[in-house]
Order: sequence, then structure tokens, then C-alpha cells
Amino acid sequence: MIILGVSGAEAIFHDSSATLVIDGQIVASVEEERFNRKKHSDGLPVHAIAYCLRKGGVSCTDIDDVGFFLEPDVLLKRMQGDMLQRHGRVPRTIAYLAEQTAKSFRMEERLREHFVFGPHTRFHYLSHHLTHASSAFHVSGFERAAILTMDGFGERESCALYVGGPDGLAKVHEFMAFPQSLGLLYNAMAAHLGLGWDSGPGKLMGLAGYGTPDLQLFDDVIVLRDDARQPVEIDASFLDFFRLALIWSTLQKHAAEGTARTFARSSSFVRGASGLSDKAMQRFGEPRLPGDPLTERHCDIAASIQSALSRAVLQIVRQVPKWLPDETDLCLAGGVALNVTTNRCLAESGLFKRLFVTPPANDGGTSLGCALYLDSLQSRRSTYAFDVYAGPHIEDDFDIGAACQLFADRITYAKLDEAELVRRAADCLVANKLIGWVQGRMECGPRALGGRSILANPMDPGVKDALNTRVKKREGFRPYAPSVLREASADWFDLDDSPFMLLEATVHPHQRHRVPGIVHVDGTSRPQTVTESANPRYYRLIRAFYERSGVPMVLNTSFNRHGEPIVNRPEEAIAVLLETGLDDLFLGPYHIRRQGDR
Ligand SMILES: [Fe+2]
Repeated sequence: MIILGVSGAEAIFHDSSATLVIDGQIVASVEEERFNRKKHSDGLPVHAIAYCLRKGGVSCTDIDDVGFFLEPDVLLKRMQGDMLQRHGRVPRTIAYLAEQTAKSFRMEERLREHFVFGPHTRFHYLSHHLTHASSAFHVSGFERAAILTMDGFGERESCALYVGGPDGLAKVHEFMAFPQSLGLLYNAMAAHLGLGWDSGPGKLMGLAGYGTPDLQLFDDVIVLRDDARQPVEIDASFLDFFRLALIWSTLQKHAAEGTARTFARSSSFVRGASGLSDKAMQRFGEPRLPGDPLTERHCDIAASIQSALSRAVLQIVRQVPKWLPDETDLCLAGGVALNVTTNRCLAESGLFKRLFVTPPANDGGTSLGCALYLDSLQSRRSTYAFDVYAGPHIEDDFDIGAACQLFADRITYAKLDEAELVRRAADCLVANKLIGWVQGRMECGPRALGGRSILANPMDPGVKDALNTRVKKREGFRPYAPSVLREASADWFDLDDSPFMLLEATVHPHQRHRVPGIVHVDGTSRPQTVTESANPRYYRLIRAFYERSGVPMVLNTSFNRHGEPIVNRPEEAIAVLLETGLDDLFLGPYHIRRQGDR
């Protein structure tokens, strides 16, 4: 059985991706942005699909089933009904949005413009939250579990409960539906603080560490109840849906015209660009323009919404046993599940024995969810072998030697055996160099986990500044994370195991001074625990660094330049070496340096 999962339709959603499953094996799962080089790409994932087919050695005519990440008719009906209810008509200014959305959602038709399918190929439009739930449960390794999905919104719901077991996956309850949405509110607050719409939530999480939460600030915005059906209610008057529709309309225009997904830095536009209402602005102040100084007040607002989010999600999770009293394990998916601070609250709550957060928790994971759900319906299988390294292989899928020759007048390079490669990389790290580490297959999901990473020495007190000024150009307040040997994790963090970097941990106070590069201002960090079986070469590198330095971890950040997706082709990695202050590049078996560097 050959099944293709597809997410992305150039409308409202982002992080489009494709996944191919053949006879129950996940052949490949990858986001379109890595190929078309548009960060958070929302386009039809034609390049990602083509890669998956190549990797599986199949053509479109072989495909039995194609699953899409959304039921467009349900969403369009909801959007139309919502506008009519609010305005009595569809306002002209946002009619473009509705029109384009309807066009983009004809996914089968649009896919057929690029690919020729077999006469037997079946197409399925699946519920968005069902595909999120599937992307977690089917790869969790749990035989049965409760699954909570939380995002901006699906067709209607923004938070839903599913149950998974040997008999399949079924929806149990919708906790929140549009316009009720914790993801949307958190995103709007990030935009209000000038952190951007697409990447804002991740930045807001980092900024929160600098502030002091004001527990009352969101008490009447996110109201908590001990009610199994509706434990959380958002006061929708703090959001302005006309402004939100304008944002999406503008994003679509940018996508259609191929222009950057950035908003003009004009105060009149920025005022509307957060999607908050005038009432909210009276509470939280005028929106911060991107680039304006961050004040203590901004940090306190960030800390307050972060704390309000964690409390709200915890309140929802407290209701889960009332619906599913026999389930002892919990899975999470949807964009809100990328919030490591909230995940930690859930892990520590004691409400469930085990917690699994799927690595591609964002919409990029829904293609995986589509493919596995369709496979499970036919195979009656519920658990699948999952390797997070599911994207292109840097040696098998590309010709690194040819890429090196292209740049031969500007680089020096040497092909090494693994022991020498690891030794040289560890030497570079000990010498406080910033290295590119591109090995094996690319990770699926937004986190770099030692496949497409920039690595540095966490002991170097100047490492954050070096990374920010020379390579990443990130805001100074954002923390960097470590990859730590799994067996040594408990000596440094109040956490044993976190293979996908999806849980916050506290760095033991007596160790903090030894690893200043990875300790956030509030003493926390976001470690990835590494085992030899999960990533042998990466494990050996960290081990080699440990033997030289006495510290069993390296600083690990994604291998990309500011505003760009993670590198995919060898040429892109070499270009970063040439155009930034990266010192050395370890690209498959090659050690590459700029000419003239010592
Ligand atoms: Fe989603």
C-alpha cells in the first residue's frame, strides 16, 4: 500500500509538507520550505512530494491513497458563516481572502496540475485535528493513549481530545472551537509585542523568561472553570476578527505575488497587524514596532501570557481523565505543543504516567498524520516505527564532492574517515569555533537535532554574542539549547530524557557557571538528550567533546541564516560558510573551510 500525505494549500495554514508511507514504513517526511527556500512556506508541497517519490522509488501512478490535511468545505462554510454573523455580509476588503482560500483548497485539482496519478488513486480530505492527533499517537510507541491537539484553528476546533488504541483513533471531545483559541491568542500577543506573526510564538517563549508574570493581567481574558466540557473560555472581545482576516488576506497576497511575508514597518499597519482589539490595546498598550526597544513592561506581558497559557492548558488536561478514565499516557500535537514551558508543566503535573510530544507538532506534521491515519485504516496497525531523521540524506541524495568543486576557488576541503571527522570537529568546538554539522538525514519538524545543526562550545561565555553577530543575527534575548549525552543529562538538568528538545528543564544551580552559553536568564534550558542508537555520529562527537572538556554537551542551533529555512542542499551549507562568520563546516565526510583561514 503506497500512501502520500499532503499538507499545505497557500491559504491561512503554513509549514506545508509531504510524507510517503509504503507498506507501513515511513519512507520520508519533509517540509516544502527546505526545497523552495521560503520559510514557513504555505504553498502546495510539490518539491517535497517529488523528493518523497524519488526516495521511495515510486511514481505518482503507483500511489493508492492521497490524504489532505484539511476538510476545506467545512472550513469555508465556517468562515462564511462567521463573516455573515459578524458583518451581515462578506466585507469587500476580505472578499479576496475568501476567494483565494476557496481556490487554494481545491487541492486534488491543483495537485493534478503537477502530477499524474493512477486511475485507482483515491483522494481523502481529512479533519485537520485528526491528522495532528495521528501524527502524535501513531509514532508515540504507546499502545493506547489520550491525545490532545491544540493549535490556532482547524476547520472549527482549536483544541480537541482523541483516544488512540489497537482499534484506531477516535475523537472524544472538542474543548475549544474558533474563535476560541489559545494558539491564536498567544500568536496575536507575539505579534503585538513586535515579534512577528509566523515566528513570533517561539520568540515570545524566550522573552517570557525575562519578565515577572502578572497573574491578574489575563484572568478575565482566559477564564478557567472546573467544567469537563468547557474548562477554558477566552473573552473574544480582546481579539478583532476583521483585523485578523486582514492579516491573513495580506499574507495570501504576499504568497500569491511571491513577496516576503513581512509587514511594512508602519505604525498604522502594525496597529492592526496583531489582531488584537482596541479593548486589548487599552490593557496591553500600543503594539511594539519590530526593532523598537523591549521594555520591562513588554517582558512582563510576555511572562504573563506564557503563564496564562500554561495554566489554561493544565486546566484542560485536568479534564482528560473525566473523559478517558482508563488512559494513563498522553500525546500532544498542534503548534501549541511546541511550547516547551507549557509541556514541562504537563510533564510535572503527575496527571499522566508518560507524555509524548510529537517532533513535527506544527502543521508540518499533518502530512505524516494523514499518511499514517490512512494506512492504519487499512492495515489495522496502530504503532509505527518512527525515525525523526526522515528528510533528505546529505550523502545519498546529493553529490557533496560536486558541490565542493563548484566552490573550489573559495574553499579548501578534505574527505575524512569518521574517527578523524569527529576528532577535528571536537577540536574546533574546544577551540570555541562555530561549526556547521550536516550529517545523515534531515530532521522532520522545526527543531535541528544534530542532522542540520550549527554547533558551538556551551562553556564559552561569549558564544551567544558570537552566534548572534556572526551567523544567526537573532534577537539577543533568545536562548540557545544544548544536546547532552542521555546518560549524563540528570547530572546537569532536572530531566532524564527529552530526545526531541520539546521540554523545558532547569539547569542545576551548581552547574550553571560551567555552561553559560545554554542557560537562559531564568536558569532554564531546552536540552536534547542524545543516545548512540538515535544518532551514532552525533553521539560520538558529543562524547569526544566531553573527553576533552569534561562537559557532556554541545550548544546546538538550527543550521540556517536569519529569515531562511534550514539548509538542505550542500551548496546552501557552503554558502552559509562563505557568507557568514561560521568557522568550519562538516558536511557528510567532508571538512570544509574558507580559503585563507588558518
Ligand atoms: Fe494545525
